[in-house]
Amino acid sequence: MAGIGSFFKAIMGICETRPLGQDLWSIEGGKVVVQKPESIPKGGAAYLQGKGLNQPLLIVHTDDDQYLSFANVCPHGKRKIDPVAGERRLRCCSVNHSQFDYDGKPLSGPAKEPLKRQQVELASGKLVVTV
Ligand code: FES
Repeated sequence: MAGIGSFFKAIMGICETRPLGQDLWSIEGGKVVVQKPESIPKGGAAYLQGKGLNQPLLIVHTDDDQYLSFANVCPHGKRKIDPVAGERRLRCCSVNHSQFDYDGKPLSGPAKEPLKRQQVELASGKLVVTV
């Protein structure tokens, strides 16, 4: 039954990644500031959407404690993106499951364009994303 659930999610483009609480991020001076980025578990991710962002962002907290930011939009068909647990890859939530490395480079699937990646830096415990 889990297989049917996964297939249904793929058909609907439903990802596992959840949005980051609206109180945990803001836009300041044209940059996105994430409070307490450590609230995103290592190996996991959260997405940011709204507040005037041009496009949703996927913030990945890697297993080796780095933070990465990508456009949360698959270049193939605009579906959202999930990290692949235990691997340094990202995967689109469509049935086609395009995959990307942490540079945003497409690895497999129909997406031929890279995922856009943003510059990030940690400052005073906050994650600052240049969008
Ligand atoms: S939307 Fe990502 S592979 Fe089609």
